[in-house]
Amino acid sequence: MIPIAKPYLTEEEAQAAHDTILSGWITQGPKVSEFEEKFAHYTGAKYAVAVSSCTTALHLAMIVSGIGQGDEVICPSMSYIATANCIKYVGAQPVFAEVNPETYNIDARDAERKITSKTKAILIVHQIGMPADIDAFKAICKKYSLKLIEDAACAVGSEYKGIKIGNHSELVCFSFHPRKVISTGDGGMITTSSKEYDNRLRLLRQHGMSVNDRLRHESKKVLFEDHLELGYNYRMTDIQASVGIQQLKKLDWIVNERRKIAQKYIVALKEIECIRLPIEVEGYFSNYQSFSIFIKETCPIGRNELIEQLFKKGISTRRGIMTSHRETAYKLTCNGLSLPISEYTSDNSIIIPLYVPMREEDINFIISTLKNLILNSIKF
Ligand SMILES: Cc1ncc(COP(=O)(O)O)c(C=O)c1O
Repeated sequence: MIPIAKPYLTEEEAQAAHDTILSGWITQGPKVSEFEEKFAHYTGAKYAVAVSSCTTALHLAMIVSGIGQGDEVICPSMSYIATANCIKYVGAQPVFAEVNPETYNIDARDAERKITSKTKAILIVHQIGMPADIDAFKAICKKYSLKLIEDAACAVGSEYKGIKIGNHSELVCFSFHPRKVISTGDGGMITTSSKEYDNRLRLLRQHGMSVNDRLRHESKKVLFEDHLELGYNYRMTDIQASVGIQQLKKLDWIVNERRKIAQKYIVALKEIECIRLPIEVEGYFSNYQSFSIFIKETCPIGRNELIEQLFKKGISTRRGIMTSHRETAYKLTCNGLSLPISEYTSDNSIIIPLYVPMREEDINFIISTLKNLILNSIKF
């Protein structure tokens, strides 16, 4: 079976984890600090705070933005469910906006239409690595005095207008889950340009503790801690961070390799008129965290049948990006909400394998199988 994704982990990551395990410091210690510094340097952000996942990063981003009970946050429904969940964690309400069917990213006009007196923030998502139009959302947030939060779970190494994602706004949340471009097993990072946010995020990720373990360990005198506010255990381990440091060194190479594979797919599949391929307009640079194809109505084979047939040929795929409002956990509160563009896009798209390194013969097999299945099917 050709897998849908595979993390690129080598002996270097294994050795780094091994060394950290034997170093005696295995959680939120020197390796986490080093990873944070290197990540901030990579993205060009002032500060980077490591946490246990992107979900926990987003939760903390909500808290430091002052979002709570009764507030509304606008976000796309067509995203992984963690995007909407983090809004609910603080007692606020996600208000779902439509997406642009070509980029899969939140539609700025629809987001603006959904602003009410209760709206406190817009949570944009750089879906499957393609940057959203950050400047458009910055302008809307400025106009209505809203906070802007970026869900960049999939977008490490992507760029918007020549600048790396992570360096455009005050709260940008990343994931290092194995389906992402670089991985630490699980893990997350928040980049920010605000010293105030940086301080508070560091407190919140460790139970609100005024003295962290490292400070106490390195102190020449006895230190007693206080717990300044309700916090969480959202720590990243040093084992994860040591893997992350190695992964970061390879990030640009991995992105480059992913882009080459994406380009091969685009060149080979563009002759199929009944599918829509990803587009990257000027100023947008995707890391191709995933490669999604939209199956048009004119296609002789439907999306689900295509998934079945590819599976039979040994090719793993995934349905298109989910819509949160149609999941059981949301159905009741969404009260029959209809988002026709998101639903249609989600129901008719498919994600095909893309990982590094990918064997040339596997890429070619995927291309030829797709061509055969689509071009040689008969529409009934
Ligand atoms: C858009 C988006 N946001 C958030 C997350 C959650 O990331 P994590 O698994 O690191 O919590 C994901 C993970 O797939 C995602 O795709």
